[in-house]
Amino acid sequence: MSDTKAKLNVPGRDPIELPVLSGTLGPDVVDVSALTGQGLFTYDPGFVSTGSCESKITYIDGNKGQLLHRGYPIDQLAEQSNYLETCYLLLYGELPTRQEYEEFTSVITRHTMVHEQLRSFYSGFRRDAHPMAIMCGVVGALSAFYHDSLDISDVEHRKVAAFRLIAKMPTLAAMCYKFSIGQPFIYPDNSMDYAENFLHMMFGTPCEDSVIDPAISRAMDRIFLLHADHEQNASTSAVRLTGSSGANPFACIAAGIAALWGPAHGGANEAVLDMLYEIGDEKNIDKFIERAKDKDDPFRLMGFGHRVYKNFDPRAKVMRESCDEVLAVLGIENDPLFRIARRLEKIALEDEYFIEKKLYPNVDFYSGIILKALGIPTNMFTVIFATGRTVGWIAHWHEMISGEYRIGRPRQLYTGATERDYVSIDQR
Ligand code: CMC
Repeated sequence: MSDTKAKLNVPGRDPIELPVLSGTLGPDVVDVSALTGQGLFTYDPGFVSTGSCESKITYIDGNKGQLLHRGYPIDQLAEQSNYLETCYLLLYGELPTRQEYEEFTSVITRHTMVHEQLRSFYSGFRRDAHPMAIMCGVVGALSAFYHDSLDISDVEHRKVAAFRLIAKMPTLAAMCYKFSIGQPFIYPDNSMDYAENFLHMMFGTPCEDSVIDPAISRAMDRIFLLHADHEQNASTSAVRLTGSSGANPFACIAAGIAALWGPAHGGANEAVLDMLYEIGDEKNIDKFIERAKDKDDPFRLMGFGHRVYKNFDPRAKVMRESCDEVLAVLGIENDPLFRIARRLEKIALEDEYFIEKKLYPNVDFYSGIILKALGIPTNMFTVIFATGRTVGWIAHWHEMISGEYRIGRPRQLYTGATERDYVSIDQR
């Protein structure tokens, strides 16, 4: 924090001094919280210039293409760490010692099973329901099953709720898929690691043992890791805002899932595949590129561009490597759909419009391709994003609840009717 002050001159008023705050990294912020006492609000649709909280978890420099979790660069974590170790880092602020790591993985592994009655919850849905619709429901419903971890003022309750959410998300996600195809739910297997277990619950059957290629489970783990947190994005802000009212953690994460569902956020990797199918053939790519550039056409190239990264998405670099590895392991580099993806990537990277607007392939472009290659149906893509992101949501919720916070309550610029008298219906 610094003693620097900004001066705000509003016509007809005395100048207002506003503190300028400095973090450890990133631009200074002007603290406008005292403005309300002066009868003024700031106006910032989409919150593009607004810092909504103080946080120590994740730092992004969009111009440099930098993403740090607790100070550690994302590419180092993706290459040298794994999802559960990164979860520990996000939650506790430091990398675990070996003993801490073993205790943490053991506790997460032992919370993967879900209440047996949740099975009947699933059968209340239509088989063709979107899995994100089911996830909004079942994750919110966890608060109806785990009453012993709902007291947000109790550190122990908060800890157990965090473990449960991280551990149970893959189980609930896989249950959505199994329900949609009419196969029995598969119980978690405690001898497997997090990503392996998820693939086992997705693709295993009670009839035979699951055999999971280590390269495939490594790619899955990396997808979870690369989605683990991303600072104050729409879904994380939804979790914080929901949590600021004192709502329980399961309800807060359900709010995050709902916010993530949209195609401009977590729904993008699903939209990438829909777009590749729509393109259908390499000969149609130019036509779609032209559509993306046409201001009168709402079509956008899904998986390109980012609100924050205006250079490149550092997660996309690592995900691209995984993408090459997975396609090679599965021997499907020449699949027509993946050839369209590769050509699209090349053309967009060389096209003046995309270069000038700094629209690079984002993480969802490559994660969509990997998930498709793994045989995961497109409507499960956002569920997998939500599974990886749960730790980020929980870490932010926990950070907020552990400090001083107030209920979130943005204001507005009102442009509606001024006060007028009610007119009875026969006089209108
Ligand atoms: N295809 C074509 N043109 C685009 C695209 C795109 N994918 N993205 C942005 N533009 C253009 C846009 O039309 C605008 O042009 P102009 O200045 O001439 O009006 C300019 O680029 C800036 O766009 P914007 O909408 O102001 O940028 P934004 O920062 O508000 O939007 C975005 C970011 C991610 C919503 C947008 O790039 C987009 O819709 N991308 C496709 C969806 C997608 O891949 N989303 C996943 C984001 S990564 C996952 C996550 O972190 O949640």
